[in-house]
Amino acid sequence: MNPVKVGLLGLGTVGGGTVNVLKRNAEEIARRAGRGIEIVHAAARDLNKPRICDTDGIQLTTDPNEVVNNPEIEIVIELIGGDGLALEMVNKAIEQGKHVVTANKALIAKHGNDIFAKAQQKGVMVAFEAAVAGGIPIIKAIREGLAGNQIQWLAGIINGTGNFILTEMKDKGRDFDDVLKEAQALGYAEADPTFDVEGIDAAHKLTILASIAFGIPLQFEKTFTEGITTITREDVAYAEELGYRIKHLGVARRTDKGFELRVHPTLIPERRLIANVDGVMNAVLVMGDAVGPTLYYGAGAGAEPTASAVVGDVVDVVRALTSDPENRVPHLAFQADSLANDPILSMDDVETAYYLRMSVQDKPGVMAKVASILAESDISIEAIIQKEPVEDDAFANIIMLTHRVVEKQMNAAIAKIEALDTINGAVKRIRMESLDAK
Ligand code: HSE
Repeated sequence: MNPVKVGLLGLGTVGGGTVNVLKRNAEEIARRAGRGIEIVHAAARDLNKPRICDTDGIQLTTDPNEVVNNPEIEIVIELIGGDGLALEMVNKAIEQGKHVVTANKALIAKHGNDIFAKAQQKGVMVAFEAAVAGGIPIIKAIREGLAGNQIQWLAGIINGTGNFILTEMKDKGRDFDDVLKEAQALGYAEADPTFDVEGIDAAHKLTILASIAFGIPLQFEKTFTEGITTITREDVAYAEELGYRIKHLGVARRTDKGFELRVHPTLIPERRLIANVDGVMNAVLVMGDAVGPTLYYGAGAGAEPTASAVVGDVVDVVRALTSDPENRVPHLAFQADSLANDPILSMDDVETAYYLRMSVQDKPGVMAKVASILAESDISIEAIIQKEPVEDDAFANIIMLTHRVVEKQMNAAIAKIEALDTINGAVKRIRMESLDAK
């Protein structure tokens, strides 16, 4: 049988990695897919840029339309990024009855509902394993491997750049900006690195994970998003003293009132395996009612790890080319007409435990006053430490860990604490998750 002809949009880090992996492993890939797979046409913004791959045998162009319009091509791999030109090209490919493989999390999180509806009408596949956690096959694991479970919650370290920054701050006491520059030089950070440090990249990925875990439409705009820019070395050190690590987590949870979808810095007990996922690595912990907790770990970014997911998707598409569209794995794991419309909870209604740090006047009764506000608010304290003032400073740091409480209740208590004239500045609040098997 003739090889399947594939078009590639984008020849940057992941595009170059994809060409290399497809060439290097061509024989094994063909044995798996049942047919050879050849990239025959590729588009890149600048054809003179140095590349990590050999493009011999690939027709090159600066116009992605030429690739999408090429009648020989059955599968379009979109690695342009963003949701401008990429969205236009993906829609065009679908209109022409071509299958699409993409690594574009923003595209899927923001436009996936519409893209999948169009793909369904045309009977084509849109595969997006590389959009979440790079090389970890987490989409496939949840969508197919865990299909017998009711997924109760999942929590993931799904932005390598953010994890790299937090790890370097903890291990080496390095400054935020310095580590970010290194992540950019290593090719991990997004084109706009605020997407990494403000949690937007992780929110795109969490939106996708929540949809395939719970069978709900993609709802990026309802995902609560907080980045890591306010985390200080002090917080990292205090958390460690209390037996916790601060990780930037994406959390999706099923509750009686609706679904939680949230991305924020989180204290997690250091004894959890996921607390020890360091550097640029990603990990996703998934709790299924039948299987219990399962943990998926691996490289969340980089040329070949991401290419591994892209090529895996291409092989899936090739295997399914001859199958009836009705019998393929649904885009969002659940049949398109069976998605649930349970509400996504507002952050006010989400319940977590908390780490609180406040700077207080070093005099009698201050701690008691703070404790009594928490007690009146029905918030139970789990641990407390007070740090003596440094040299002539009149203020001491108090660090508290609380039991679980609804966020609006905690916010009201914090407002009362901040109103005390013995408190200096704002109370620092970081959410906490035990991630135990419940
Ligand atoms: N900027 C992303 C990260 C790349 O750091 O994880 C992979 O999506």
